[in-house]
Amino acid sequence: MPLTTPVILDAPLDMHLHLRDGEMLENIAKASAHTFSGAIIMPNLVPPVSSKEEIIAYKERIMHAIGNEKFTPYMTLFFKPSYDKAFLESVRDDITAIKLYPAGITTNSEGGVSGFDVEELRPALSAMSDLNIPLCVHGETNGFVMDREAEFVSIYEKLASAFPKLKIIMEHITTKESVAALEKHENLYATITVHHLLITLDDVAGGMLQPHLFCKPIAKRPEDREALLKVALAAHPKVMFGSDSAPHPKHAKEACGCAAGVFTAPIALQVLTELFETNNAPLENLQAFISGNAQHIYGVTPITKKVTLEKKSFKVPAEYNGVVSMYAGEEIAYSIKGVKNG
Ligand code: DOR
Ligand code: ZN
Repeated sequence: MPLTTPVILDAPLDMHLHLRDGEMLENIAKASAHTFSGAIIMPNLVPPVSSKEEIIAYKERIMHAIGNEKFTPYMTLFFKPSYDKAFLESVRDDITAIKLYPAGITTNSEGGVSGFDVEELRPALSAMSDLNIPLCVHGETNGFVMDREAEFVSIYEKLASAFPKLKIIMEHITTKESVAALEKHENLYATITVHHLLITLDDVAGGMLQPHLFCKPIAKRPEDREALLKVALAAHPKVMFGSDSAPHPKHAKEACGCAAGVFTAPIALQVLTELFETNNAPLENLQAFISGNAQHIYGVTPITKKVTLEKKSFKVPAEYNGVVSMYAGEEIAYSIKGVKNG
């Protein structure tokens, strides 16, 4: 059933976004800041964002890069087990969440956590729980690539039970096992990307290898994609949109040793709108998935922004400032007609 067009989306939020730094930040920040009211900004820079000074300085660089766009960067800190309560109190007002990476699991995560010993993590996680700071987690073990996320579910469950008041967000979930975990623990939530709603491993490696669809966690099986689609289209209140849009220069993707990450920031809203339409999901569910659920889960009130989309085909540019986005060079069904701030 076609959506009534134009489609107007209110205050879209991207609850998992890589904005990078330096020239890349300057080149890509507006792609998100134009159409989203705000985004949770990942801290995996080199070095990772792990002090109050670094958070403040990085936020300033982001504000510079977005120019006149109205956009809130919700800042995150790179989790370290050594964070104590005094430190966390001192940064509480500068951050929205803390991101935990298993050591070495993905881009710039070498300084992450090894082993998941609850007692070792207790001081930092208890303090976060007391201060109501959500924990965002890249949930993959070092196991066989297709099993990494499913294997991590027992770690999610261990953490969720040990810290029942801590909000734990399972980032960019890709499996039916993670979807099932949402129902088992009140304090587990999830973000879902647009690419994991659309592709399976077949699209990445079933034919000619598609480096621009290669990411961590890797896209899984059709039944996993179905499980993700089911909760996203129904706007399950514990799931929210997080693009994990992760730009890398074209030469780093089209290379022997391809960097992980799919760049979706410029096309995410258009493609999500088409996806909800194709699956006969109502507009109110799309609105909840791209903003309302995140507002409830994080307790944030985004700045006002209305994004109007029309059903008019849009040819995705071959490159955005040297970065190749998903569907580059292809036609997508919806276009951004306009963005109204305030
Ligand atoms: O594919 C990915 N790219 N997954 C991540 O977890 C990190 C991201 C990046 O920073 O490039
Ligand atoms: Zn990410």
